[in-house]
Order: sequence, then C-alpha cells, then structure tokens
Amino acid sequence: MDGFLINGGPRLRGSVRSSGAKNAALPIMAATILCEGETVLHDVPHLADIESMAGLLNRLGVAVTRDADGTMRLRVEDEMNCQAEYDLVRKMRASVCVMGPLLAKRRKALVSMPGGCAIGDRPIDLHLMGMQKLGADVELQAGDVLLRAKRLVGAEMFLGGAFGSTVTGTANVMMAATLSKGRTVIEAAACEPEVTDLADFLNACGARITGAGTPRVVIDGVEGLTGCEHTVIPDRIETGTFMIAAAISNGEVVLENARLEHLLAVVDRLRHVGVNIEKDDGKVVASSSRRLEPITVTTQPFPGFPTDLQAQLMSLLALADGNSIITEKIFPDRFMHVAELSRMGARLHKEGPTVIVEGVKRLIGAPVMASDLRASAALVLAGLIAKGTTRVNRVYHIDRGYEKIEQKLAALGADIQRIRD
Ligand code: EPZ
Repeated sequence: MDGFLINGGPRLRGSVRSSGAKNAALPIMAATILCEGETVLHDVPHLADIESMAGLLNRLGVAVTRDADGTMRLRVEDEMNCQAEYDLVRKMRASVCVMGPLLAKRRKALVSMPGGCAIGDRPIDLHLMGMQKLGADVELQAGDVLLRAKRLVGAEMFLGGAFGSTVTGTANVMMAATLSKGRTVIEAAACEPEVTDLADFLNACGARITGAGTPRVVIDGVEGLTGCEHTVIPDRIETGTFMIAAAISNGEVVLENARLEHLLAVVDRLRHVGVNIEKDDGKVVASSSRRLEPITVTTQPFPGFPTDLQAQLMSLLALADGNSIITEKIFPDRFMHVAELSRMGARLHKEGPTVIVEGVKRLIGAPVMASDLRASAALVLAGLIAKGTTRVNRVYHIDRGYEKIEQKLAALGADIQRIRD
C-alpha cells in the first residue's frame, strides 16, 4: 500500500491548477443513463472514485472511454441491467446516484444500501422518500433497495433532513424528475455548486430545470434527453485545500482554474485567520506571512463553510496563536483526523460535535494513518510544516479525491514523495 514521506519546512511557492470537481463529475456521469446518443465530458479528474463510477456504468450497459487528452465519452449501449451491486456501492457511496436515472429511464433500480462510513452515519432515507413521492414502489430486499415505477409522476416535496439538505439526494431526485410526467418541486434542495453543474448539464441535454443553486428547484418533466458536451466545474475542495497549504507553509500560491464564488465562506474564515486571498488578473493568490489568528467555525450546507474542508482547516488552526472552536454540523462524528493530528503534537479537545483547538508553536513529524479522503489531506498539510519527517500511510484514501496531489505539492516546493510498501 502506498504512503507519503513528507519533510516539513519549505514555504510553498508557484502556481497550481485545480482539477475538475469529483463531486460534480460523479452524478453527471450517472446522469448519462438518462441520455440517448453520446455525451462528451471535459475536465473529468483521474481519480479512483471516477474509475469506480466508470466500472459501475459499464456494468449498467454504458460504454465509457477516455481520449488521449482525457476527454471522457459515454454512451448507453444496453439497458437490461438495473442493479448497482454491494461490492461497488460499499467502495463508493456516490454509486447511489444511479438510482434516480435507472428508475426514470429503465423503470427499475436495484441498489445496495450503503453500509457504514468512516465519517459517520450516512442514511439514504431522503433519497428513498423523494422517489416514493414521485410514485415509485420501494422495497428493502436483503441489504438492497428495489425501486419500481410504471411511470414517475412529478410531485412537490420537502427534501430537508435532521442535518439540513442532502447533496446527492437532491441530485438523485432531480435526475429522476427530468423524465417524470409533469412538474416536480423540491423544497430545501441542496444549493452546492455541484448540484448546479448537474442541472446545467441536464438542461444542455434537453431537461427543463429552474432554480438550481437555490433551495427551491423546479423540474418540468420531458419525454427524453440527448447526450451533450460539457466541461465539469473546478474542484472547490481541492482549491480550498491548496489555499490552506499556502497558509500553513507561510507561502504564496497562485491558484489556477479556481472559482472564488464557490468558496466565499472559506475565504471569509481564512481571512479572519490572517491569510491573504486576492484575485489577480483572473487568478487567485493565497499567501500568508504572519502568525495565524484563532477563529470559530461551524460547518454548514453551501454557501456555509464546507464539511469537506473541516479537517484541513483544523491542521491550520493547530498552529494558530490561541484557541479556536470547530463545530461539525453535517457529519457530527467526522473527526478521525483528531487522534492522528494529536500524534503530531496538536492539542485538540473534542466534546461531541465540537473540537477546541489549542494552538501550539509547532507540530512534530510522525507516522500517521489516513482514514478517509479529507482526513488524509489534513495529515498531508500538517506534514508540510511539521518538524522532521511525517509518514502518511494508506494514501489510497487520498487518491480517491485528489489527482496526483504529491506531484502538485512537490511542484510548489514541498518535500514530499510517494513510497510503495
Ligand atoms: C456529498 O455527500 C459529498 N459527496 C460529500 O463529500 C460531502 O461531504 C457531503 O455531500 C456534504 O457536503 C458527493 O457529492 C459524492 P449529504 P452526500 O446527503 O450527498 C444526512 C468528499 O469528501 N442525510 O448532503 O452523501 C447525512 O447523514 C465527500 O468528497 C440523511 O439524513 O451528503 C448528513 O448528515 C464526503 N438522509 C447530511 O444529511 C439522507 O437520505 C448531509 O449529507 C441523506 C443525507
């Protein structure tokens, strides 16, 4: 299993390009099940999760190919199979995004219930409620959910749960509603940029969706969709991770292919820490040359501070000049990184969904264990500034969501290398 060896210290300098967004590309790839003809996608990142989705689509009769320049081509060739098996869904929860398209286009979907997850409880009750509202029969069968419907019919629904809106739940219902009879209204829809990118893609294929990016999304069903050409939006979580990398190393990094409007809450919090984030000639520049201020932050659905940057921010605040307070409101148990950062000398006091981060002068390199995608990014960031050598094990977690992160960091001057066991 691969690991990273990182010698802390260098200030990061130079420019880095954010890849296309994993969390936009995955539902868009699933949405091609709805389409006739070929779909052409640009800027789909080369990631393990993307390969998993391509593998699942292949099983569902969708041919997925990549041109030499990375352009992805997808075309439905066989509509017989309607099952997303356990071995695929347990590897990647976003597999659940095939549920809506299968149900709407093939009138049947057999999808494995996603099991446990390192970041906490992740039920799909809202997805199922949404499909039932559209008229689907839903039946639990030995760990799988069987959904069937002669024809889905548009409906009004409130899709908010105990922790607010659901991103892939909104995506799933929105995809199913595109081919439903009549109008669907989703209240408390997720407003994430990835949901808007999916709606833009579907509308380019002939769907009639309005209000994406707001809590009220309206979908007027159509008879059919035809594949189109689409470029996936930049990965805002990757951009945010590199902003924090610049800050933690007191460096200066130019962020290419970055959309600040997708990161307003992140920029706001980082500026309160004392990080400079400027737009310069269309590019974003993140730099820091001073002591870091402690802050209070709570994760929220977009446009609030994203839960997918909570762990990375904790690494930064571990070095702030005072006590910070981080509250995780989306996945209250998402703190696998706390014990590992503590092994590097961070002073973290966890109380339920809140962690008090008592700033220290410095972190110390150590062997640490990655547990999930964003937690592993936090350990890499801590390693960039820690005294001595940090060895991050099980980096397959990070390969799921960051394209060649060690090469991008090394190009900015980091002393990092991938090692094979
Ligand atoms: C998406 O997951 C992202 N994944 C996650 O990113 C991200 O952390 C999350 O949204 C929140 O922003 C993809 O887009 C592939 P949710 P999703 O449904 O859609 C509860 C990463 O690191 N809930 O918005 O699965 C749920 O338990 C990943 O790239 C229900 O209660 O998240 C959570 O507390 C990790 N019932 C909250 O809602 C449901 O049916 C938000 O979850 C669905 C969700």
